[in-house]
Amino acid sequence: MKRHLISAADLTRDDAVLILDTAEEMARVADRPIKKLPTLRGRTVVNLFYEDSTRTRISFEAAAKRLSADVINFSAKGSSVSKGESLKDTALTLEAMGADAVVIRHPDSGAPHRLATSGWIGGSVLNAGDGTHEHPTQALLDAFTMRRRFTGSGGGSGSPGGGTGRDLSGRHITIVGDILHSRVARSNVHLLSTLGAEVTLVAPPTLVPVGVGSWPCEVTYDLDSVLAKSDAVMMLRVQRERMKDAFFPTEREYARRYGLDGERMSRMPAHALVMHPGPMNRGMEITAEVADSPRCTAVEQVTNGVSIRMAALYLLLGGSEPAVSPRPDTPRTEENDR
Ligand code: NCD
Repeated sequence: MKRHLISAADLTRDDAVLILDTAEEMARVADRPIKKLPTLRGRTVVNLFYEDSTRTRISFEAAAKRLSADVINFSAKGSSVSKGESLKDTALTLEAMGADAVVIRHPDSGAPHRLATSGWIGGSVLNAGDGTHEHPTQALLDAFTMRRRFTGSGGGSGSPGGGTGRDLSGRHITIVGDILHSRVARSNVHLLSTLGAEVTLVAPPTLVPVGVGSWPCEVTYDLDSVLAKSDAVMMLRVQRERMKDAFFPTEREYARRYGLDGERMSRMPAHALVMHPGPMNRGMEITAEVADSPRCTAVEQVTNGVSIRMAALYLLLGGSEPAVSPRPDTPRTEENDR
């Protein structure tokens, strides 16, 4: 593993499988009476958020706390950033406070890379979403959710219908919607293809990024043509806050052509999942009926996000001992570690 997690495109298959397997151990901790591990006791994790976030920020916070790290939450609103402080000066301040890891969300693509390579800070940098570039932990939690569902539980065992169960080989994953502005789509295309899945992107021509031809995926404008072959259909939010122009005629027209409703869902295979990273625009890319159906994994994705972020923090901050005791009778919890 590298010291930073900036891009899903940097992960080898072995890296990705190691994170997924470690997350599986972390998920087992959540079933114990004492959910906390002492692994990162005395380490400091800073959540540096320059953009709004609900799920990702609280998920990183929960993950760091479950590993016993000290957590500092920094949001640009209400800080000296609104007085014009630069990323460099903010980073130097965090370094002076002894941050071992900085989790950064930033509206500019490339900000986490800058932080990791600038020399301003000595700890690990984790990208929690940068502009329209990447969101690697979201892709990891999505892959984790698929692997668990396809193998019928914790992964690692054989999977029905192909693959080893440790990766997603032979699976068809369809990603639908505002691909142009989506860091979730970009990270997923890279990670899912590294894990052996075949990815198809579906979007109106105006929301397909330039250069998509070099991505490891297929592209179509016709959602109905791919539903029957999909093992999972991932719906994306239309990101109005990033749109300066009109990209489609009306919301109604968008929903009619690219929205997932009950009728379309009924044309997916019986085992196929509906996924959404949240936040959802109900009535736009997804109807309430689909969002609330048992096939939609949106809430499960949030739960799995904590396990993935625990795994990422544990692996990046250099846990040399096993994160979780192999013997279930003596878990390395805070209590028996004293
Ligand atoms: C996504 C994001 O922020 O990129 N959400 C998330 O992290 N759960 C997707 C979105 O905002 O639509």
